[in-house]
Amino acid sequence: MTSLTFNPNILHYLSLASTNEELKHIAEKSILPNMSVVIADAQTKGRGQAGNSWESEDGKNLTFSILIYPNNVEIINQFLLSKMVSVAIAEVLSEIVIGTSIKWPNDIYVSEKKICGILIENSIMGHTLSQTIIGIGLNVNQLQFLSDAPNPTSIANEKGVEVDKEWLLMQLLARINHYNEALNNGHYELISKSYFNHLYRKNGFHNYSDESGDFEAEIMDVLDYGYLILRDKTGKNREYAFKEVRFI
Ligand code: BTN
Repeated sequence: MTSLTFNPNILHYLSLASTNEELKHIAEKSILPNMSVVIADAQTKGRGQAGNSWESEDGKNLTFSILIYPNNVEIINQFLLSKMVSVAIAEVLSEIVIGTSIKWPNDIYVSEKKICGILIENSIMGHTLSQTIIGIGLNVNQLQFLSDAPNPTSIANEKGVEVDKEWLLMQLLARINHYNEALNNGHYELISKSYFNHLYRKNGFHNYSDESGDFEAEIMDVLDYGYLILRDKTGKNREYAFKEVRFI
């Protein structure tokens, strides 16, 4: 799985506001190689999805961002980036903790708890993506969470032992590089299949809620532009963008 020539450009900081922001600034000022990484032991303004902040105890977790230059990925297929990163992280974590899954759109869960969040920021040129910054916050050795995040956990919480962050970082980068090469080679089907196979609630009917109320449905698909397709008990397909449906 690990390419022998894989040697990522890693910029390590003790403390930053946000690794996504720092990587964005550096990439504006200089030409960075593909798979350049900014990692910080502490973030003072770690950013989460939908304008939320990201909690991470100093020195305990992995908070890092990766720069990639997608090869010919159309804007309409941009969710493939989320799929490929989620699959890579879920695969690495499933070798360490039991019960890892991907909760649509791109949270990594262990059973019913969130262990990793991903914040992807794309730049576009014409119809394709020109640059992507993938921010990853993985809870590794933090034992207690203070923010109002609903259900956080960490590897140490799940396993009862601490994990070597440097080793874990290299596993993750190698797997992300592998799936990024698959993406660049157009292996969209492989990535989408693996994403679906790791999906939280991929089997059976579960409870959801949308603007018209609660309902039971099964997951049918996640499209390459990110929409979740649910089929309710009447056999009707329902299509949702992020935040249009709630898992209950
Ligand atoms: C989420 O809300 O689930 C996404 C969280 C993403 C957090 C990571 S930590 C490293 C990178 N830098 C940031 O400011 N955010 C992302």
